[in-house]
Amino acid sequence: MRSLLSQLLFFCFTVGPFLLAPCGIGLYGQQRFSFLDDEQNAFVQSELRRLTLRQKAGQMTQVAVDLVFEGPTYVLTVPPVLSDERVDRIVGELEIGSILNHPSRSYPSPIEYRLFIGELQAKAMETTGIPLLYGQDAIHGANYIGGATLYAQPLNLAASFNTELARELAGITAYEMKAASIPWNFSPAMDVGRNPAWPRTWESFGEDPYVNQQFGLAMLQGYQTDSLGSRTGVVACLKHFTGYGSPRSGRDRTPAYLPERQLREYYLPQFQTAIDSGALTVMANSGEVNGVPVHVSKYLLTEVLRDELGFEGLVVSDWQDVRYLYERHHVARDLKEAVKMSIDAGLDMSMTAVTTDFPEMVVELVQEGELTEARIDTSVARILAVKVAMGLYEEHLWDPADFPDFGSDKFARKAMQSAEESIVLLKNDGLLLPVKPEQRVLLVGPTADNMRSLNGGWTYSWQGDEADTYLEEFNTIREALEREFPDRLTYVEGASFDTLRNADEAVTAAADADVIVLCVGELSYTEDVGNINSLVLPDAQRRLFNRLNETGKPIALIMNAGRPRLMSKMANRSQAVIFAGYPGPHGGDALAAILSGRVNPSGRLPLTYPRQPNALLTYDHKYTEELNGNYNPLFDFGAGISYTDFTYSELNLSSRVLNPNDTLEVSVRVTNEGDRAGKHSVLLFTSDLVASVTPSVLRLRKFTKLHLEPGEYRDITFALTPADVSFIGLGNLPVTEPGTFRVTVGNLTEEFDFEE
Ligand code: BGC
Repeated sequence: MRSLLSQLLFFCFTVGPFLLAPCGIGLYGQQRFSFLDDEQNAFVQSELRRLTLRQKAGQMTQVAVDLVFEGPTYVLTVPPVLSDERVDRIVGELEIGSILNHPSRSYPSPIEYRLFIGELQAKAMETTGIPLLYGQDAIHGANYIGGATLYAQPLNLAASFNTELARELAGITAYEMKAASIPWNFSPAMDVGRNPAWPRTWESFGEDPYVNQQFGLAMLQGYQTDSLGSRTGVVACLKHFTGYGSPRSGRDRTPAYLPERQLREYYLPQFQTAIDSGALTVMANSGEVNGVPVHVSKYLLTEVLRDELGFEGLVVSDWQDVRYLYERHHVARDLKEAVKMSIDAGLDMSMTAVTTDFPEMVVELVQEGELTEARIDTSVARILAVKVAMGLYEEHLWDPADFPDFGSDKFARKAMQSAEESIVLLKNDGLLLPVKPEQRVLLVGPTADNMRSLNGGWTYSWQGDEADTYLEEFNTIREALEREFPDRLTYVEGASFDTLRNADEAVTAAADADVIVLCVGELSYTEDVGNINSLVLPDAQRRLFNRLNETGKPIALIMNAGRPRLMSKMANRSQAVIFAGYPGPHGGDALAAILSGRVNPSGRLPLTYPRQPNALLTYDHKYTEELNGNYNPLFDFGAGISYTDFTYSELNLSSRVLNPNDTLEVSVRVTNEGDRAGKHSVLLFTSDLVASVTPSVLRLRKFTKLHLEPGEYRDITFALTPADVSFIGLGNLPVTEPGTFRVTVGNLTEEFDFEE
């Protein structure tokens, strides 16, 4: 009689895969993907059987497109020239399955992209018969494609609190990427920027997990459209899994320390929602969490992401991050060990970027018995499954002529809307704004006349440093104000970012002005290039403010920046304050329209604006953190006013008691009491009055945006479930504890009890 073990083995290797695979159980690479049908699943398996180990290792590799062009990496010739020899090497010999980026220093048109991607795809089909997966970072529009529609950066979109707009904009990005035959977008970043110094704060949707979840979802849906593989959709990549937005030092890619409860409260829910809504790719966080680089964290990449969150798609590394495991993190002795560790942890594709030794290491590790081929098959199956789901085998090149709306006015109007709705008016003493028809305006400051301070990074280059060249046709703030206030605008630079220039001239010009518009802030940057040692603005900008303030003329202060650079003294002494963030190419026009009153501002802060350098609390802090006046930000999360007055009344709950399977309806009347039409975002917060884990003072649970004419009111209703007011409890699982909860909308509050 056969032993139990041998019977089990017989079952596993013969009958099992056929019986179990259709039930969704993966065995030795024979996983079944719920997002594929039977035929597609069978196809993935047959592809696996067909491929050699080398070819599989190639599928797991992603390189920068620079490697197939003539010339040195990062500084290709302009225009770029495709190298037959390099295409043969990368796609032909190494059989690499994925490419990213744009040819350095060039921003090809859709037609140009199609030409070279066409050659790469033809080579791939001729060698492996598997289409390449081409990806780019199109985080505020298809920013590496010449002439594409760019719009406000993610932090600004969050400030608009308009998820429908975000969905539409993501749809525009997908359409324009597809026009250039690029079907994969490394966006949305749902990192939850909770350390305001972090140089990628502006790439996130701010400090609140619910806002990140809602905007991440909206953009995912916009990118992927209704069906995977649709002509106008691309596949989104959720990033950066997870905990990236909270480096302790505030510097990019440095350690985050996240107790399990925090991790689950702030850094997983947005990924869970997006995965449940069809996300197929995830990029790993390049940093470390609790001492373990995420690229070697089996806990995060496999136990949490796959086993708990149920993610079935592919996990791609961030830029060179497998190599960095030994070059930077010191957890591996050499590249080979790093490759083994990352694959053991759950990585599927390595963004080796500018090196090509990864696939060779994979082959060697399997040949040496350090990795099993079955483990490789698991990753390759995921990669192929994504390619199949996207329909790439059938179609991997698109005709730009089929995308007539590329760069159209129709799309530009949406981009303009994103700028208008995402600029936040924070203070308007004495109704300084809008500028009155006869008033003369003096415009001053380092962010007044450049496109970099309106657009941020990932704008026609990684650092956004070429924005002034490529976005020349758009108006800087100066250009837009010259049109808005013809014959009554004077511009004097006054200071660069860190050096006083012609401040005397600005002071002299102030004598003839009724209003000074002072534009301060930052240039564009991202990642470690944007690291700072202090949130305080460079001295020159503060000195410029002081000089102008001494003139006694009213100041409208505009902060163009990717994070809340401190401006407390300046804001206190300015009559009007605007946080413009990075509103995109139309930002100058939008600001001009807001300053003149043609547009009524409607943005609200998606982060807490600190007053002091060491007081960086978020709005959802704990009670002990606000004792003795210790929570006193310059502007609170959600701050943002309008040229009209919105008031709230009649906050009503459908019941005073919420039971486990119930839904509580919370209604409120919003009235436009002023004399201008305007848009307004309504934010609903809850407070758990007593809980076993110290509760946050407030948590945002719902929001919506409406437009109201003067005198108009609207009754809106939010539905709250017990899950909406849950928290990660002592057992590190979501719980809703019986007790009293307070609902806050604006200045109104009501209470209800949750009873089991
Ligand atoms: C960034 C990612 C980006 C990748 C590819 C990395 O440096 O961290 O956000 O997707 O590069 O460009």
